[in-house]
Amino acid sequence: MNTLKYSVAISLISAFLWTSTPFAADKLAGEQQAANCIGCHGSIGHGGHADHNPAPNLYAQQPGYLINQLNAFKTGTRSNAIMKAMASNLSDDDIKNLAAYFSSAPTIKTETNVSLAKVGQAKASMCLGCHGPTAEGNGQFPRLAGQRADYIVNQLASFKAGVRKNGQMQAIANTLNEEDMQALAAYFSGL
Ligand code: HEC
Ligand code: HEC
Repeated sequence: MNTLKYSVAISLISAFLWTSTPFAADKLAGEQQAANCIGCHGSIGHGGHADHNPAPNLYAQQPGYLINQLNAFKTGTRSNAIMKAMASNLSDDDIKNLAAYFSSAPTIKTETNVSLAKVGQAKASMCLGCHGPTAEGNGQFPRLAGQRADYIVNQLASFKAGVRKNGQMQAIANTLNEEDMQALAAYFSGL
């Protein structure tokens, strides 16, 4: 009887493993594919700093957010010509693997303007309810900590202009002027 229970349990477990494995994100495959991304997004250099990179920092970003954005570029709901071209070549599995790799990579430190960051800190509490108490992000809410300041300013301006669409962020960005954006960006990039 016990043997029967064991063999039922074992076949259930192996059926579960067999069916779940093909869908599990493959971090190593993601790391290999990230070779196509780091030319723009930066690789992790010495001392945990990203190399010079014109594109946003993806390291330690929320996996759900990364998947969402890659799909948004692919379908065109977020418009950016470069990223549309990149994302169009990615399958659902590629996207999951890349998200698993970048989200599990260590955080990096970015240079910031310290005095401007102090001004930003005083305004940042209105952002933390969604972006997390240390701006680490959560699910669809992106991590802002360690993000490039110039990229944060660009995105806030883009939400305000209605070019990048998201109801919550468009409403918030409408309340910010250029100086607020610069100060908030300096604060978050330095976290
Ligand atoms: C030729 C340069 C280039 C390459 C190569 C590239 N990207 Fe990008 N990526 C960008 C730029 C520029 C942006 C910012 C777009 C914007 O301003 O909306 C971006 C934005 C993104 C974002 C949104 C980040 C955020 O915080 O919202 C994700 C995710 C992303 N890229 C993933 C990737 C992945 C994965 C690859 C490799 C498969 C890749 N990118 C390759 C230039 C590039
Ligand atoms: C009510 C919730 C909410 C609040 C409050 C909020 N955000 Fe956001 N934010 C979001 C969501 C959701 C997104 C992702 C939008 C998308 O999917 O394109 C986002 C995206 C962003 C992005 C783009 C990040 C990237 O990697 O591209 C920036 C920058 C940003 N928020 C900054 C801020 C700042 C600064 C504040 C405070 C002034 C703030 N947010 C307050 C919900 C919020």
